[in-house]
Amino acid sequence: MKEAIYSTPSLKEARKRSKNKVETINAELIIPDRLSLFANGKKYFIRTYGCQANVVDSENIAGILEKIGFIKCDDPFTSDIVILNTCAVRENAEEKVFGEIGSLKRLKSLNENAIIALCGCMIQEPHIVEKIREKYHQTDLLFGTHNINRLPLLLDEVIFAHHRVIEVLSKEGEIIENLPVVRESNFKAFVNIMYGCDKFCTYCIVPYTRGKQRSRKIEDILKEVKELKEKNYQEVTLLGQNVNAYGKDLNDNLTFAVLLEEVAKLNIPRIRFTTSHPWDFQDEMFRVISQYKNIMPYIHLPLQSGSNAILKKMGRRYTKESYMDLVTRLKKIIPNVSLSTDIIVGFPNETEEDFLDTLEVAKFCEYDSAFTFIYSPRVGTPAALMQDDVTRSEKNKRFNRLVETLEISISKKAKEYVGKTVDVLVDGFSKKGKDMLSGYTEGNKLVNFQGNASLIGKIIPVKIIDSHTYSLIGEVSDEYKY
Ligand code: SAH
Ligand code: SF4
Ligand code: F3S
Repeated sequence: MKEAIYSTPSLKEARKRSKNKVETINAELIIPDRLSLFANGKKYFIRTYGCQANVVDSENIAGILEKIGFIKCDDPFTSDIVILNTCAVRENAEEKVFGEIGSLKRLKSLNENAIIALCGCMIQEPHIVEKIREKYHQTDLLFGTHNINRLPLLLDEVIFAHHRVIEVLSKEGEIIENLPVVRESNFKAFVNIMYGCDKFCTYCIVPYTRGKQRSRKIEDILKEVKELKEKNYQEVTLLGQNVNAYGKDLNDNLTFAVLLEEVAKLNIPRIRFTTSHPWDFQDEMFRVISQYKNIMPYIHLPLQSGSNAILKKMGRRYTKESYMDLVTRLKKIIPNVSLSTDIIVGFPNETEEDFLDTLEVAKFCEYDSAFTFIYSPRVGTPAALMQDDVTRSEKNKRFNRLVETLEISISKKAKEYVGKTVDVLVDGFSKKGKDMLSGYTEGNKLVNFQGNASLIGKIIPVKIIDSHTYSLIGEVSDEYKY
């Protein structure tokens, strides 16, 4: 098949970290006239896999496509351009994407001019790009996480030169400001405060797919949040792979606590942030979180493992004891704090004792929610080269034991809500049925309740009348008139 390969990813390049200053560049999109004429009302569909970093990238991609002249569509099979924004964090995430690429063959039979584009973290992996080139001929464009701003020119070439185009850069990356954006919600927004990651946890592919840790300038972040406030956004989530390290690469004494306080002063009703790496958690954060009512008392604090030996092999740089101490202090200083976590079971050579340590920490912390994963080897990471004597069936058993343990505290925490009236930001109609709405409490617990569409996008008091493990049932408080 005819293709133009401008660059393909390299893990060796992706691993490099220099002391070079990160550049902030202004996205100046070049949109060829013939591309706009071509797009004129044609439809696009984007499917987003993975984390919120990808959600924001997809919002920028949507912004670019709409600027060119494409219109959003909810059905891939009636779209003229389909983009899959992929995630590489675990094998099952990648399998889902390959399944979807397969099913998109049908799109080509319905409309031979339809364009299938792939981007995101998987495309930053050399072996994945090779596999797609060899086996998935229905794909027309592959680009990566560093060159979203190049989309108009790449698309132009696919459309007018009629061949496949591949451009994936493996580099530390810069900060690109002012990309157009079409957000998924008009009352909840994600705001990147930093890109990339320098932690290189030994199991994790993210530092390779996203580049070096680079903090956005505080003035650019505050400007974006101010604009959201002016548009009446109710909630902003500050995003980074490790928000507690914000500013470390800027050399001007800026810390995440300083940024968070400045954002809180802008008076957006709800501020969240994710992810907090336990290693960088600063004491000043306790004061800022407890002082501002609009900073939600909810912290996502990935544990990954409760065993010191495994934490060391993972390169996490904290211990079971220091993690438990941090949780104790968090609960003491922010009494209504909700905690969630990520835990990996079955890291190479995890012993029963290691696993029991994880169960012990899980019980101790009494999480409000948790994301649990079975370790998945990622090509190019140090852990993927480690010998592993733990069988798949043992990993599955541990996974189930962990979920059982976590659910005890998750259910208990959910029950504590019953009888209380809590503020809920209403997201939209619930999957539970007609006239049912859903939204999240300040502590990020899902609530389903009866109500009408006029409540969507508002923060309202809801009385909790019952609880399940992963959600609450409520009714709009009598005090609230609508
Ligand atoms: N920056 C965040 C996490 C990003 S990835 C942090 O440091 O916490 C989200 C979660 O995926 C991780 O917290 C981890 O629990 C899980 N994860 C990452 N790599 C994985 C792998 N190779 N196998 C299984 N789970 C993994
Ligand atoms: Fe991955 Fe670790 Fe970075 Fe999180 S901190 S993205 S787990 S390398
Ligand atoms: Fe996945 Fe990339 Fe996020 S690997 S979890 S989409 S940073």
